[in-house]
Amino acid sequence: MIEHLYIHIPFCPNICPYCAFYKESAGRERVETFLDALLLETEHWSLRLKPKTVFFGGGTPSALSISQFEKLLGGLRSQLDLSNLEEWTIEMNPATVAADKAALLKDFGINRISMGVQSWDDAVLKSLGRTHDADKAEESFQVLRDAGFDNVSIDLIFGVPGQSLKSWRETLERSLSLAPEHLSAYGLTYEEDTEFFQKLGRGEMAPDEGLEADQFELTAELLGNAGYAQYEVSNYALAGQESIHNSAYWRGYDYIGLGPSAFSTVGSKRWRNIRDTGVYSESTMTGRTAVDFEEEVSDRIKAGERAAFGMRTNTGLPFSESSSWENELRKAAGEGLVIVERDRWLLTAKGRLLADMVAEIFV
Ligand SMILES: C[S@@+](CC[C@H](N)C(=O)[O-])C[C@H]1O[C@@H](n2cnc3c(N)ncnc32)[C@H](O)[C@@H]1O
Ligand code: SF4
Repeated sequence: MIEHLYIHIPFCPNICPYCAFYKESAGRERVETFLDALLLETEHWSLRLKPKTVFFGGGTPSALSISQFEKLLGGLRSQLDLSNLEEWTIEMNPATVAADKAALLKDFGINRISMGVQSWDDAVLKSLGRTHDADKAEESFQVLRDAGFDNVSIDLIFGVPGQSLKSWRETLERSLSLAPEHLSAYGLTYEEDTEFFQKLGRGEMAPDEGLEADQFELTAELLGNAGYAQYEVSNYALAGQESIHNSAYWRGYDYIGLGPSAFSTVGSKRWRNIRDTGVYSESTMTGRTAVDFEEEVSDRIKAGERAAFGMRTNTGLPFSESSSWENELRKAAGEGLVIVERDRWLLTAKGRLLADMVAEIFV
C-alpha cells in the first residue's frame, strides 16, 4: 500500500511574481470540473492507497469555497481508507483564511496547516506582490488557533531585494512570538517563467548574496535559540513536529500525486500529470490518461536522490549508503562543507549555506 498522497489544487486568487508552481486564476465552473476529475483520479488509485500523510498543495488550496471543500473532502473521505492517517496538511494563503473554512477543515480531519506568511514587513509583502498585510496574517493565524489547529507552520522568504537584515530579524521575531510548531524559511529563488526572473534578466532586480547568507545564518541562530531544530536546510520544527509528509519525500518513499503537474513515484517508476488544468480534467473525465511524462528511475539514481535529500536533513548520510561518493565527500570535508559524526556524513554550517552545491556530488 502507498502511504503518502499529494493533491495539487492549481488555483490562486492572485498570481505572485516569484512563483513557478503550476497555478491559474480560478473560474467557478473550471473548479467544479477539476474537482470531479480529481475525485475520479482518486477513485482510480483508492485500492492502492492507505495514506499515513495527505498534503494539499498548490496553488492555493485554501482558496476553495466552503461548498467546494465539502465536495472534495466528502469525496476523499468516502473513497480513501484513512484509518492510518497521521498528518493531513493544507497550504493556506493568509488572505483566504476564514473561521467557517477553518472549522470545516478541522471537522474533516485536516490536522496541519502550512501558511504562506512570507514576511511580517508590509513593504516586503508588497514587493512580493502579496495581497495580505502583516495584520491580516496575524489575524489568520489566530483564526486557525481558535479553530483548534495545534500544528501550524509558517512559510517565510528571505533574500528579497530591499529586505534588510533588520526587517528579516523582525520577521523571525514576530513569527516566534506566535509560537508556531514549524517554520519554513526559503531563500528567494528566481524561477524561470516568472516575472522576477525576467526582471533579474533585465537587471531590474539584483540578489545580494552576502546579505542573504547573513539572513540564513540569523535564521538558524534565532530559531535554534528558541528551541526549533533545523531538521532540513529550510525547515525548522519544535521536537516531534517535523513534517512527516516532507520527511517521506526526502527518504525516497513511494507517493502518489494527484491533480495537474503532480509527480508520483512508485518503485522504479516516476510520472507527472500534465501541467494544464483543462486538459487534465478533460482527459481524466473521458477515461484517458493525464500523464504527460514518465521515466524509469534506476536504483543508482534513486540512491543519489536519497543521498542528496538526506544530506540536507539532520539525519545526514549514513556511511552504509555513501560508498559511491566517498572521494567527493572527503574533498567536500576538506572544504569545510561536510563533517563526519559517528557513522554518518552531515553538512556543516557552511555546507548548509551551500547545500545546493553539495547536492551536485550525488547527481
Ligand atoms: C506553493 S506555495 C503555497 C502557499 C500559498 N499558495 C501561499 O502563497 O500562501 C509554497 C511556498 O513556497 C514558497 N515559495 C514559492 N515560490 C518561491 C520562490 N521563488 N522562492 C522562495 N520561496 C518560494 C513560499 O514560501 C510559499 O509559501
Ligand atoms: S506563492 Fe502561493 S498564492 Fe502566490 S502564486 Fe504561488 S501558489 Fe499562488
